[in-house]
Amino acid sequence: MSTAKKEYKRITVKTLVDMKANGEKISMLTAYDYTMAKIVDGAGIDVILVGDSASNVMAGHETTLPITLDQMIYHASSVVRAVNRSLVVVDLPFGSYQSDPKEALRSAIRIMKESGGHAVKLEGGKEIKDSIKRILNAGIPVMGHLGLTPQSIYKFGTYTVRAKEEAEAEKLIEDAKMLERIGCFGVVLEKIPSNLAKKVAESISIPVIGIGAGPDVDGQVLVLHDMIGMTHEFNPRFLRRYLNLFDDMTDAIAQYVDDVKTRDFPNDSEKY
Ligand code: KIV
Repeated sequence: MSTAKKEYKRITVKTLVDMKANGEKISMLTAYDYTMAKIVDGAGIDVILVGDSASNVMAGHETTLPITLDQMIYHASSVVRAVNRSLVVVDLPFGSYQSDPKEALRSAIRIMKESGGHAVKLEGGKEIKDSIKRILNAGIPVMGHLGLTPQSIYKFGTYTVRAKEEAEAEKLIEDAKMLERIGCFGVVLEKIPSNLAKKVAESISIPVIGIGAGPDVDGQVLVLHDMIGMTHEFNPRFLRRYLNLFDDMTDAIAQYVDDVKTRDFPNDSEKY
């Protein structure tokens, strides 16, 4: 199995499928704006997800449900303008694809046309199969999302680990196989037991990207603001923090306030 980081000029959905076939792990992070996306793309991430977690992270909502299609297009177009190499996947928000396949296609077309994103992601399995097929038939690449699907939070009632019971695990495997069969290029598995995630990754040939799904999948995704420690109240077991920007920024801003109050800033070399 290869652990080397291969050089790719531009990541496409085909690159991701090839990466899985070659045993190369796929890196994925969220971004919602130009400045962050520029850093993430420049650092060599394979896939940038313009997630509907923007509803929580950017807008301060408790769930992902309130974010609108127009707001997702705004975030996605900002990200696309920053990106040179990564594949940009955009979440279809709650309410933009659930009612019927025609509405799903209309929403996906708006995302592709108005944001310039490269692919869309939808939450759910066989319940939304016809919508996914309709989008795929229009030539739009689709990524699935199974396990914990935050747009259904009011149905689940909690954000705890999904598919621990046999029946739900069996359905998840069936849904993942269906997503592969109808032509999705990948699937996100969120917060499920790692042995189940491994089984799914071994039973389909499209990449399986995990978040809280253990190491035996084809790639990993995290919410950028969580992994760089800008958020600090969300502490699930699966989250590794690479920075503590909440504290670093708080200290820097407090220092600036102090410098202004004490007339230390600006000094002679900082004026015209
Ligand atoms: O919206 C999002 O950030 C996501 C990830 C958690 C996979 O869907």
